[in-house]
Amino acid sequence: MELRVKRAPHIDMEITVPGDKSISHRAAIIAALSNGICRLNGFLMGDDCLRTVNALRALGIRIDEPEPDTIVVHGKRRVLNAPTDEIDCGNSATTMRLMAGLLAGQTFESRLIGDASLSKRPMGRVIAPLQRMGASITAEGPDDTPPLSIRGGSLRGIRYEMAIPSAQVKSAVLLAGLFAKGKTSIVEEIQTRDHTERMLRYFFVRTTREENGTISIFGDQVPESRDFRIPGDLSSATYWLAAAAAQPGGHLLVRHVGLNTTRTPVLGVLVRMGAQVREAIEDVDQLEPHGIVEVTGAMLKGTVIQGKEVAQLIDELPVLAVTGALANGTTIIRQAQELRVKETDRIAAIAQNLRVMGAQVIELSDGLEIHGPAPLRGGRVASFGDHRIAMAFAIAGLFADGETVVQEAESVEISYPGFKGALEKFMTPKRGPGSTPVIGSLSLAPAE
Ligand code: S3P
Repeated sequence: MELRVKRAPHIDMEITVPGDKSISHRAAIIAALSNGICRLNGFLMGDDCLRTVNALRALGIRIDEPEPDTIVVHGKRRVLNAPTDEIDCGNSATTMRLMAGLLAGQTFESRLIGDASLSKRPMGRVIAPLQRMGASITAEGPDDTPPLSIRGGSLRGIRYEMAIPSAQVKSAVLLAGLFAKGKTSIVEEIQTRDHTERMLRYFFVRTTREENGTISIFGDQVPESRDFRIPGDLSSATYWLAAAAAQPGGHLLVRHVGLNTTRTPVLGVLVRMGAQVREAIEDVDQLEPHGIVEVTGAMLKGTVIQGKEVAQLIDELPVLAVTGALANGTTIIRQAQELRVKETDRIAAIAQNLRVMGAQVIELSDGLEIHGPAPLRGGRVASFGDHRIAMAFAIAGLFADGETVVQEAESVEISYPGFKGALEKFMTPKRGPGSTPVIGSLSLAPAE
């Protein structure tokens, strides 16, 4: 599938986006461990989350799909069956790393495999703590890459200091900790997305967080079955928020989107670049805040993205780099070397594609230096099989002269089914009066 993109007319839209990818994975896993039936609305039916659903089914968990965005998970009180075959995690590192944590706590043998991209991704970061907890887990590929063979059980709690900030590693250790004797603690110097901790708490599993970033869990707890509504994915919304932000006078409202503060730093970057951004939290009932984000665009200016915020907007960096190319001045992204071990080497992919489209870019070992504003020109760009590269460069195409063709873009299905349809809407001129700003006139609790 190719995405064919032309310059966007004036943006004045209201949208919703599919469910949050990270939250969907966690909700399915913790519901599977619970003591009953859990209905998960707003579940992301993207390929990555469906890999987790199928992995859980392979472990004996019944999961129904009664509606297009709803799954019903029949929790079995932490009892999982040995899989009869290897478990294919597809492109999803979240599936592989979180399942590794879960399987480390089971006495049976299992084997996790992935596609060509996942087979190159580093797994040493989960293997090290899980081995220390007592699991036997080996990577069959070179340099600790998949497949993973796991034989778990009889885990003991450990205290683990994470070398790299990673929500996936933290989550693997916490899930293993649920099956370990005693207390398992994980120390994160830089806070990463905290969906696992929140979801565990929502299902009445006690975790604690200390000031110094130590998160602890006690083993043997059984999640209490509950229903949950998954909010829209802010990372998916960011493609459109960035487009509206970069179009002077553009206006976009996104409803029912997740506004967890470990995910919202991207909004701060858009503000720094000169866009007007407002967020209004509507509901924190389910422990995952969600609400409305509204953006009004401007001629943006370059910014520097580095340090602690990088971990909390790592998935948004491809589209922020595109935004940087449209902004006045220099945008610098540093300390983002993790981008090199994502679905593809995203630093190299962004640099190559921005150059194809006429932007001036310097590739750094740990990031990018982008000189804007670039008069972007259309052309054929590669997606490298990476959903976020495909979507980021579709957004670039909305600002380019001529047609932009994003090649082999079927990967968008991984995190954003329906992306192509949404893109069509952004390319279609509207008739009639535009919408007026909304948040200013809403009587909602102000955002945190
Ligand atoms: C995710 C964590 C991040 C992110 C990924 C999803 C998660 O990865 O890039 O898309 O759901 O925990 P890392 O934990 O490797 O930073």
